[in-house]
Amino acid sequence: MNSFYEVFCRAFQTALRAAIPFLPYREPQLLKNEQECAKLLAGKEKQSVLIITDQGVFQAGIIDALENALKEAGISYVIYKDTVPNPTVANVEAARQLYLDNRCDALIGFGGGSAMDCAKAAGARIVNPRRSVNSMKGTLRIFRRLPLFIAVPTTAGTGSETTLAAVITDDKTRHKYPINAFCLIPHYAMLSPHITAGLPKQLTATTGMDALTHAVEAYIGRSTTRRTRTMAVEAVTLINRYLLAAYADGSDLKARAGMQRAAYCAGCAFTVSYVGYVHGVAHSLGGRYDIPHGLANAVILPYFLEEYGAVIDKKLASLARRSGVVTHETNDHAAAREFINWVKLLNVAMGIPDKLEGIKKEDIPLLARHAARESNPLYPVPVLMSAKELEKMYGRIMADETETVF
Ligand SMILES: NC(=O)c1ccc[n+]([C@@H]2O[C@H](COP(=O)([O-])OP(=O)(O)OC[C@H]3O[C@@H](n4cnc5c(N)ncnc54)[C@H](O)[C@@H]3O)[C@@H](O)[C@H]2O)c1
Ligand SMILES: [Fe+2]
Repeated sequence: MNSFYEVFCRAFQTALRAAIPFLPYREPQLLKNEQECAKLLAGKEKQSVLIITDQGVFQAGIIDALENALKEAGISYVIYKDTVPNPTVANVEAARQLYLDNRCDALIGFGGGSAMDCAKAAGARIVNPRRSVNSMKGTLRIFRRLPLFIAVPTTAGTGSETTLAAVITDDKTRHKYPINAFCLIPHYAMLSPHITAGLPKQLTATTGMDALTHAVEAYIGRSTTRRTRTMAVEAVTLINRYLLAAYADGSDLKARAGMQRAAYCAGCAFTVSYVGYVHGVAHSLGGRYDIPHGLANAVILPYFLEEYGAVIDKKLASLARRSGVVTHETNDHAAAREFINWVKLLNVAMGIPDKLEGIKKEDIPLLARHAARESNPLYPVPVLMSAKELEKMYGRIMADETETVF
């Protein structure tokens, strides 16, 4: 990266870091179950709720309990269930229309990151009727308070239930981008491990690795606070303890609760301290090829940790020790290496490959530009990289790397 732009990026990140104590970060109020949700809505005199979800979640039958609780409380509801993974502008617009047609007065995002993000963006559109979704792309572009919004995560990964982000894909260009705004932080989040008990094995694995990526990228970045470091450590500690157990036996509710908390903690860490290039690259691939977000992160994470090299030894070693991934006495470099190996072993143990299928060589310059545009200057990554430098990382992670010459 050219040195003038490097100086600009670091100055930008330093300014944002200095602003952290003055920014309106908050966490959602937590609800335990569907009855608490219904009681809350009734107490606030809400009459009609839009539940935004997707087909997979709907068919899993895990919304039934919420529907029953709403019926008992005399609150009417409509369900938008067509959110796709990597939710699109069209999803957001359709959900918003349903909200308006049914004169709703509250929103529930019920699902993984896709459904929760679709609900966040729909909420933003409802209160900003003259703004397109695409015009909200980027940081702090919207400010109006959303209608009452409850997030109900059904995967244990994205942490969207506590973050200020919604990640949306433009249907036409297939560009996937985050919208970052304080008004998108859900007012309430319902955390109930039962809801994640039926999450299929592969989704348990990849969404769990997404949570790990949030914690790691936040911790090794240059804008951490004592609290975000603590949250990242708690997330990695829980992932070390529970991810393989949840993968092995989905009905292990202790493991499910541990992973749900891990995803939440990792969300609290990165919503303040940001993610990094792993996410920039994963978003570009999700938008272009619909590669699932967690899978992309799981595969990409070790490549970037290796690429950053000795620069992150100290921080990665500290994370490894504090989270119990490395328990014996060893130097920083060795502890950092052990941490990276642990990430790789988790992938192997859960059948996650070490390369991503489907990346086309001719798309790489555009993908890298998207990743660079998302990441620079915002993400306080340990080592700055230009779009050109990111291109070589795509070359490494794509399945037919041997045919690629950079
Ligand atoms: N807003 C944020 O802060 C943030 C952070 C990270 C990622 N994201 C975004 O979130 C999206 C990914 O979300 P995700 O990884 O949670 O996956 P997802 O929401 O796309 O869901 C993946 C699949 O899992 C199914 N599913 C979800 N919960 C289930 C359950 N309990 N039982 C059975 N099936 C279930 C869904 O039907 C879907 O088919 C991406 O678009 C990503 O960019 C957002
Ligand atoms: Fe993520």
